Amino acid sequence: MDIKRVGVIGCGLMGSGIAQVCAEAGFDVLVREVDETFLKKGLGKIDAFLAKGVEKGKVTAERKAEVMGHLRGTTALEDLADRDIVIEAAVENIALKREVFQALDGLLGKDAIFASNTSSLSITEMAAVTRRPERFVGLHFFNPVPLMKLVEVVRSPLTAPEVFEAAYAFALVLGKQPIRANDTGGFIVNRLLVPYLLDAIRALEEGVGSIEDIDRGMVLGCGHPMGPLTLLDFVGLDTTYFIAGIMFDEFHEKRFAAPPLLKRMVQAGLFGRKSGKGFYDYGQEPPRPMSQLV
Ligand SMILES: NC(=O)c1ccc[n+]([C@@H]2O[C@H](COP(=O)([O-])OP(=O)(O)OC[C@H]3O[C@@H](n4cnc5c(N)ncnc54)[C@H](O)[C@@H]3O)[C@@H](O)[C@H]2O)c1
Repeated sequence: MDIKRVGVIGCGLMGSGIAQVCAEAGFDVLVREVDETFLKKGLGKIDAFLAKGVEKGKVTAERKAEVMGHLRGTTALEDLADRDIVIEAAVENIALKREVFQALDGLLGKDAIFASNTSSLSITEMAAVTRRPERFVGLHFFNPVPLMKLVEVVRSPLTAPEVFEAAYAFALVLGKQPIRANDTGGFIVNRLLVPYLLDAIRALEEGVGSIEDIDRGMVLGCGHPMGPLTLLDFVGLDTTYFIAGIMFDEFHEKRFAAPPLLKRMVQAGLFGRKSGKGFYDYGQEPPRPMSQLV
């Protein structure tokens, strides 16, 4: 399968990273956003990332210009009609994703591949809204996309083997290290990671240890690069709460159920780094553990 032209839906945190790695690999990349403001912001993020690379001497100014030259933006979905693969990285909302893929189904050529970067929604459910579910895969990148090597390549029961292998090969061309996964809630990584993160919150709720000691325990005792509560603040507590809900609906197992403390924190707007406060207060340097959580 010959992939030359890549379409990306959404130029937020993940979409901008995906567009960047595709442009770095030499693909012709067209990114679609909802309006000019989001588009400018998203493409600006890529420019800033590369500019920092130039500053640090990691990339030349010529290379930066070459990568940016492979990238274009649009607000019109129709412009994606000539794409060989479209990777959707819009917000984690099934209704929105279904709508996007239904529209793309009417636009893309017969050999195009449909891909979603969803973290927790069903690939099969999205594929089912197209008339060619055999051409649908999950391509689950990790944040920050330009730095993280892993891509989970996900198949639904209807994905054609040659499409699955083409998507796997595409991830390799992007310089990533793909793994194969079947379409069950959370795929491989979140299936294992989410219960661990939720358990760290339960340990805090049950008074097993303090915020700092739970984090320090996993860093020093298990060699993790950061503790679970710090990681939760990075991922976003709102995002984690949403993913836990989807996984609980899928498996009906307690290990995927959001602990009451997580729910309370989301209700209070304590989303982690992005809101300035989560398990830690980022208004302080270094960030200080939040008091009064339990
Ligand atoms: N944040 C993570 O760490 C992470 C990791 C892996 C996968 N994901 C998944 O990637 C997807 C995107 O997450 P994100 O963190 O980049 O979110 P984000 O909010 O940063 O970006 C989403 C972008 O999509 C745009 N958008 C919404 N509807 C659109 C449409 N119809 N067409 C084009 N653009 C549209 C929004 O304007 C926004 O800029 C989600 O499905 C999420 O689950 C996120």
